[in-house]
Amino acid sequence: MIITVAHTKGGVGKSTLAWHLTHSLLEIDKSVKLIDLDFQQTLYFVNKIRGTGTLYVAQPKNVSELMSEMHGIDAKKYDYIIIDVGGFDTDINRTAIELSNKALVPISESVTEVLGYKTFESIIDELILDTEFDIVLNNIHPLTKNFSVIKAAVGEKFKLLNTVVRSRKIYKTTLGEGASVFDTKNEVAKNEIRSLRDELINQ
Ligand SMILES: Nc1ncnc2c1ncn2[C@@H]1O[C@H](COP(=O)(O)OP(=O)(O)O)[C@@H](O)[C@H]1O
Ligand SMILES: [Mg+2]
Repeated sequence: MIITVAHTKGGVGKSTLAWHLTHSLLEIDKSVKLIDLDFQQTLYFVNKIRGTGTLYVAQPKNVSELMSEMHGIDAKKYDYIIIDVGGFDTDINRTAIELSNKALVPISESVTEVLGYKTFESIIDELILDTEFDIVLNNIHPLTKNFSVIKAAVGEKFKLLNTVVRSRKIYKTTLGEGASVFDTKNEVAKNEIRSLRDELINQ
């Protein structure tokens, strides 16, 4: 299964979620390859800090390299391929989304975020894609409980996941050390990411 983490907007948590999600799949003994299409190469560098050599982070430079990373002979060795895309502005990013089973779109529930999401949704709406779009609330204040604004904003073709990923320092600090929440004892954060994983892979 190929899951792309996508949004036209930067700073919504694509790299953060792609990283922890990858480690939640490794936790249940799945084989995972990461593809980093972010020009900032966030996950490539995070994995370099990690340094254990267990995870392969591919950095395809063009559409044909991407296609072979996604669907070549080597790609079949992996249970999951997680792709961190920069946006929807280039051929390579579009191809990643088009050739994925799912696109995970992180958003937080502020007015500007929801408007940014609607722009992304209207681009996607015009395309004929088999890709399923799953929206996840990310970086949400611990006390926020009412998500009516985002629920009303999500279009028919798109699915809002039940998992809410709260704003937690541990998501950031672990990344900086090349670690994930699964290297820590923070069960609350681990359960949040496990819940995201299970919603994605079980339906
Ligand atoms: N759930 C979260 N809790 C706390 N900080 C978060 C969370 N998700 C993302 N962040 C922080 O927000 C910033 C942007 O996240 P990042 O994953 O780099 O976004 P993107 O890849 O979409 O540009 C980073 O500083 C990251 O640590
Ligand atoms: Mg990023």
